[in-house]
Amino acid sequence: MCGIVGYIGSEECLPILINGLKKLEYRGYDSSGIALASSNDIEIIKSKGNLKNLENELNSKKYDSNMGIGHTRWATHGIPSVLNAHPHVCCENNIALVHNGIIENYQELKKELKSKGHKFCSETDTEVLVHLVEENIKETTSFREAVEKSLSKVKGSYAITVMNKNEPETLIAARKDSPLVIGSAKDGNFVASDIPAILEKTRNISILDDNEIAILKANSVDFYSNGKKVNKKPIEVTWDLEAAEKGGYEDFMLKEIYEQPKAVKETLRAYLNGKKIDLSFLGLKKVDLKEIDRIFVLACGTSYHAAWVGKLIIEQWANLPVEIDISSEFRYRFPVLSENTLILAVTQSGETADTLAGVKEALNRGQKTLAITNVLGSTITREANGVLLTQAGPEIGVAATKTFTTQISVLYLLALELAKVRGTLSDAEIQKKIEDILTLPAKIEEALSTAEAIEKLAGEYYKKPDFLFLGRGFGLPVALEGALKLKEISYIHAEGCAAGEMKHGPIALIDENCPIVAVANKSKTYAKVVSNIEEVKARGADVIAVISENEKLLKNYLKKYITVPLIDEALSPITTIIPLQLFAYYMAKAKGLNVDQPRNLAKSVTVE
Ligand code: M6R
Repeated sequence: MCGIVGYIGSEECLPILINGLKKLEYRGYDSSGIALASSNDIEIIKSKGNLKNLENELNSKKYDSNMGIGHTRWATHGIPSVLNAHPHVCCENNIALVHNGIIENYQELKKELKSKGHKFCSETDTEVLVHLVEENIKETTSFREAVEKSLSKVKGSYAITVMNKNEPETLIAARKDSPLVIGSAKDGNFVASDIPAILEKTRNISILDDNEIAILKANSVDFYSNGKKVNKKPIEVTWDLEAAEKGGYEDFMLKEIYEQPKAVKETLRAYLNGKKIDLSFLGLKKVDLKEIDRIFVLACGTSYHAAWVGKLIIEQWANLPVEIDISSEFRYRFPVLSENTLILAVTQSGETADTLAGVKEALNRGQKTLAITNVLGSTITREANGVLLTQAGPEIGVAATKTFTTQISVLYLLALELAKVRGTLSDAEIQKKIEDILTLPAKIEEALSTAEAIEKLAGEYYKKPDFLFLGRGFGLPVALEGALKLKEISYIHAEGCAAGEMKHGPIALIDENCPIVAVANKSKTYAKVVSNIEEVKARGADVIAVISENEKLLKNYLKKYITVPLIDEALSPITTIIPLQLFAYYMAKAKGLNVDQPRNLAKSVTVE
């Protein structure tokens, strides 16, 4: 949720921290701050609101420092304010710390520390950590031991970076259940919550594991686990740096919407050898796939909607029962799982706390687990037995777009592989489906050509307070995703609903102020959706429909429609979602909102 960056080396620290934080703002942006080591002191500069405010504050001053830490916050404990912003410092002002995660026993620790004379100035859970380190420094022989001892008292999750005025040549980083990576370069060493934050400086990355500590000096990094030194093999990151830049687009979200043909193409290319599927993913073999008698999918938000499409497709093509569950629900119930139930986690970030906890729960119960994720090296890639990486590239806009369509692309290939090992589709049928799947990037291009018309529509509708999105079958997860997109970036109330279910309640909402967005492409339930459209129109609703090209009926009947290319309905979510993503984008723009950083949200939700 929060973003951490740190540097120690021979370069000037401040620009490294600010550039790093800019790449991490997607993780939270309600306040930010930095701590810089400077001539025997630690200088702290913090600001409420997004990073621009911190930059304005820094503009007027000059700093000369080669070591520091930075943080961009997504509030959990305590309102967004300068006092609650990180870095936090201890009483003597000689230790500064940044944290991502939640210290569950902070009240208890705070009480104990207060009784020892520690004075607290924020409402955060994090502040106990810095006081704990201060306290433990008195009782241990090294800064590292003090940090280790402090962390051993903590319950909850953390990624931290700490600096100590009395050891100006050392930065300490540690993690448990929150991501942290270490980067090394000729001119110094780096720590960050996520790789893009330091990619400009180094491609040599070590991923910190749970309960590990890294001791960063200007010329070396040492890793410790349970007090013992460990060797870590760095990975070489090969991403294109430009992928994390706006590249001429006004917003990351728009850029990412337009990147979908490429993202889907790359994802398909990764798992198709010509027209042959090659999933060769870690840990799960073909024989395992054959044994699976049920799939249980865990996911949140947009990933949950992609999982829903996956359920429909796997059931249809591979004749295998699939249940989908919201991760936060799964982890607290006790679903009946057979020995051969595969737990499939779908998560863009690979760091969503609820999904990770669900996977851990499944592993504890002895289930096989497979993850679909976009982030190489993320926690889920190390937890799950098997991993399928989407090739969307970094997604910076908080609203998920290209990761939705790439997740579905992987699910199509997984469904076909399952159909193959289970013998539910013939080789010829599989070939035909692969041919159709390979046309998807071009179909997305066509769907993107509706942007201008959609921008016009947004100009007409952006003042409406409520929207109802309707769909059936493959159109239902698309309707739900369209509503999620609209509400999260335009703050307009939007509900997604099964079109057939509408008459059982939601129809009461309908009047001229509640426009309907209907996913009405050609499908086996098309005629039913048309009837539902008639029902809402009869009640005065204004209808915008997403329809297939060459469709006549609705074109004659409706004033507002957006056409998408005709395609097998099983593949249609990848095209019908495009106008809905664009609709949400242009609605938010018409309202003058920040689409990349919608209020209250963060890109990866690493708390429960
Ligand atoms: O990283 P994940 O896919 O696990 O994240 C799940 C949700 O938090 C995420 O999809 C969220 O709903 C997005 N803001 C949707 O645009």
